[in-house]
Amino acid sequence: MVMGNEKSDLIEANHFNFFAEVNLDAIEGNTTRIKKHLSKGSKLLAVVKDDGYGHGLLEASRAVLLGGADYLGVVAAFEGICLRQGGISAPTIVMGNSEPHEAGKAVAAGLELAVFSKDIAEALQGAASAMDKQVGVYIKVDTGMGRLGILPQEVVEYAGFLSNFKHLDVLGLMTHLPVADAEDLTVTEKQLSIFQELVKTLREAGFRLPCNHCANTAATLNMPHSHMDMVRVGLGLYGYYTSPSVKRDVALAPAMNLRTRVIHLKHLPKDTPISYGQTYRTKRDTDVAVIPVGYNHGYIRSLSNVGIALVGGRRVAVAGVVCMDMTMLDVGPDSGVEVGDIVTLIGGDGEEFVGADELARSAGTIPYELFTALNGKVPRLYLQGGQVVGIQTASWGLRE
Ligand SMILES: Cc1ncc(COP(=O)(O)O)c(C=O)c1O
Repeated sequence: MVMGNEKSDLIEANHFNFFAEVNLDAIEGNTTRIKKHLSKGSKLLAVVKDDGYGHGLLEASRAVLLGGADYLGVVAAFEGICLRQGGISAPTIVMGNSEPHEAGKAVAAGLELAVFSKDIAEALQGAASAMDKQVGVYIKVDTGMGRLGILPQEVVEYAGFLSNFKHLDVLGLMTHLPVADAEDLTVTEKQLSIFQELVKTLREAGFRLPCNHCANTAATLNMPHSHMDMVRVGLGLYGYYTSPSVKRDVALAPAMNLRTRVIHLKHLPKDTPISYGQTYRTKRDTDVAVIPVGYNHGYIRSLSNVGIALVGGRRVAVAGVVCMDMTMLDVGPDSGVEVGDIVTLIGGDGEEFVGADELARSAGTIPYELFTALNGKVPRLYLQGGQVVGIQTASWGLRE
């Protein structure tokens, strides 16, 4: 276990028996290396939505800005406002849907926004003109995600509509590439060419469009010709490649270690059933460790019988179904494991490593879900330069 004294003391003092260590240096370093990889003139927007993919909105944002990110990306206006309240003034784009009633606060906070409806454009114009401000907007185009945005054939008309609003600065077009992590990039290339063609058409019609963007982590690493004026990178900042098909030219360091402790240990004979539904039976006499982690924390139930953890630098298996607040591990015969031992659920211990990508694959999901499922009940320990620089704990209203 690489654990400095100070950190151990803090863990003891706070009675933490389940916590996520967030290595801010890793996030900063990933940001710097990704930025270096970008095509000339391309800026880096760091996607910090959804609490920095579970790593902490403000902490992750400060780390990516230290690493050289030019922009921050959130999904909703309230997250951008949280950034401002947290003292972060970096350019920020609300990439998701904004409601007209949010326009005033978004403009006051100096946020830029994705737009794709007449209502939001009118509301932004109203708010910005009342405050005598300009608001930067990006036309969100749906070139194949089937989610938010207007269709390519609607872009010219919508851009014309926006040009009536003097307080809106149309800074660019944006689109999302849902299969840029596939082995076959034909579909993504097609999306890219439709998108680039739209930019060209609008520029020819007189729009300046200084900042057009489409590339997520996968496209940023797989397709340098998709970088355009800016890329929007999320998962890569937190240290993971989106899929095995994503190129490994940029070294990424996983930023989160999820750790817990053994709270109970028992020796069980062969063929003993474990947990609800008795879906697991011991294959031999073995030690079974209980950890105080369950689906209520976001250790999702689909890790039942397939999850892997590290104890004393050894890989062990989740035995039976994940319960609401406990999980069992088959740690093997004569394990030497003791109550209080540290267990690593995601990350490294000694030479061994359990990646969020590996774990997600075995649970039939993606690392994004594993990280963002970890909720506020999981304390976060922020590490920088080997020191704990912050702790965020769940607020239970508990007093000493
Ligand atoms: C609009 C948009 N752009 C970029 C990203 C970043 O994606 P990734 O984390 O795969 O880099 C996301 C994430 O979901 C997104 O919604």
